[in-house]
Amino acid sequence: MLEVKDLFARYGRVEILHGISFSVQQGELVALVGANGAGKTTALKAISGLLTQKKGEIRFQGKDIGRMSPDRIVSLGLIQVPERRRLFTGMSVLENLELGAITPRARKRKTQNLEFVFGLFPQLKERLRQAAGTLSGGEQQMLAIGRALMGCPVLLILDEPSTGLSPLLTKTVFDVIRTLKEQGSTVLLVEQNVQHALDMATRGYVLENGNVVMEGAGRDLLADEHLKQAYLGM
Ligand SMILES: Nc1ncnc2c1ncn2[C@@H]1O[C@H](COP(=O)(O)OP(=O)(O)OP(=O)(O)O)[C@@H](O)[C@H]1O
Ligand SMILES: [Mg+2]
Repeated sequence: MLEVKDLFARYGRVEILHGISFSVQQGELVALVGANGAGKTTALKAISGLLTQKKGEIRFQGKDIGRMSPDRIVSLGLIQVPERRRLFTGMSVLENLELGAITPRARKRKTQNLEFVFGLFPQLKERLRQAAGTLSGGEQQMLAIGRALMGCPVLLILDEPSTGLSPLLTKTVFDVIRTLKEQGSTVLLVEQNVQHALDMATRGYVLENGNVVMEGAGRDLLADEHLKQAYLGM
């Protein structure tokens, strides 16, 4: 579904990604993990068209999206939950969700998608009129994921959904991601929480200083000695 080959990306003169390759097949949950500053968000910005200083190949459902604008890429169904959520904090929960239904295809399915989101996150249904900025951190993350789901994603991309959450809320958010996977969604999950992410991922990639240094089945990566030492403090 998503095929990234030899992707280089830079900010001005500073090259951040030095030719990375990875892919996501239909129905997979793929984890892209790595430490602070490894280049994970940069890779996502390159895929979503926000970053234009790049070379290499980015294909989505066979289409070359490397030169497409961000809104065209979104309209193809490649929908991202950005780092730190970026909600419209002064608007209500319901308004934020409705704003997620951006494409004509998503607008047609708005009522069904709202029901689907409330099924996943009953908490949100009880707070429809509350301003998004007054939600707890965990609720805001749920709303951010809900808003992305309102856009009928073909591929859902999550950038560090567990950042800033307590262990309990982290578990809640990961449980939802697992549910989405079991329901057949295709997900690219970017995380610093290596253990959790690889534990539930079909496959994973480890990014270090702008290079993919390891790839494989999530559980196999977790059993790797280098990974255990570098990321899990074992
Ligand atoms: N707009 C920018 N201009 C210049 N350098 C940037 C810019 N954004 C990010 N960088 C640099 O690119 C490198 C990779 O950053 P990136 O945000 O991709 O890391 P990350 O893997 O997402 O890290 P984190 O887990 O902390 O979110 C960092 O060294 C960062 O300082
Ligand atoms: Mg990041």
